[in-house]
Amino acid sequence: MNKLNVQVLPSLLAADMGRLEEACVRCERAGADGLHIDIMDGHFVNNLSMGPEVVRMARKLVKIPLHVHLMVTNPETMIDAFVDAGATTVLVHVEIPGDPKPVLQRLKARGVRAGITLNPETPLETATEYLPLVDEVLCMTVHPGFGGQSFIPEVLPKIRALRKSMPQLNISVDGGLDAESCNRSAEVGGNIFLIGTTLFRATDMAAAITSIRDRARASLSTLMP
Ligand code: DX5
Ligand code: ZN
Repeated sequence: MNKLNVQVLPSLLAADMGRLEEACVRCERAGADGLHIDIMDGHFVNNLSMGPEVVRMARKLVKIPLHVHLMVTNPETMIDAFVDAGATTVLVHVEIPGDPKPVLQRLKARGVRAGITLNPETPLETATEYLPLVDEVLCMTVHPGFGGQSFIPEVLPKIRALRKSMPQLNISVDGGLDAESCNRSAEVGGNIFLIGTTLFRATDMAAAITSIRDRARASLSTLMP
């Protein structure tokens, strides 16, 4: 039996920004495996979102892991601030202009989980040299910058190929996920699902998390008995 842990993390980007504290508590009470926190710098993507203070606020309020997705051009200038604020995992994009390697090494030296993220069109090969340094690879299934976009199914073969070469790697999927696209992503090997709009719109977030997680677990164990 494979040892991969199937996890569902709500993305705070889809929460009511005026009631973020309430949203963090709601996710934890709904049984979320962590909180996904999207950080945008208005440069790497055409949007601005949250900063280290939101991570600090969440860290004080909830005990679940904080999964910080840096959609920023210069992560080297801000990773310490996010680690100091209480991030559990910090993910940087492989497409940044600089070298992600020292950033990933710094994250590991600071004792947090490190991840590398690939945009939908970015080939898997670009991440190969970073695989030994990371705890997780995030495959974007929308173009980063905004919540509420449509899932891009063309990313599925990339997830399948990555799972085939790395049976024990944590592979996360982010963007446009609902019950159906989560299941399709699990069928090809994804095991961590980052979900904004679908979970925050659910009338019963706890039930939605449980059913998505159960179904994904079943699909993943069919792929990897
Ligand atoms: C997109 C973000 C995603 C986003 C997902 O740039 O990285 O985490 O919040 O939101 P939905 O699930 O609404 O696509
Ligand atoms: Zn994200």
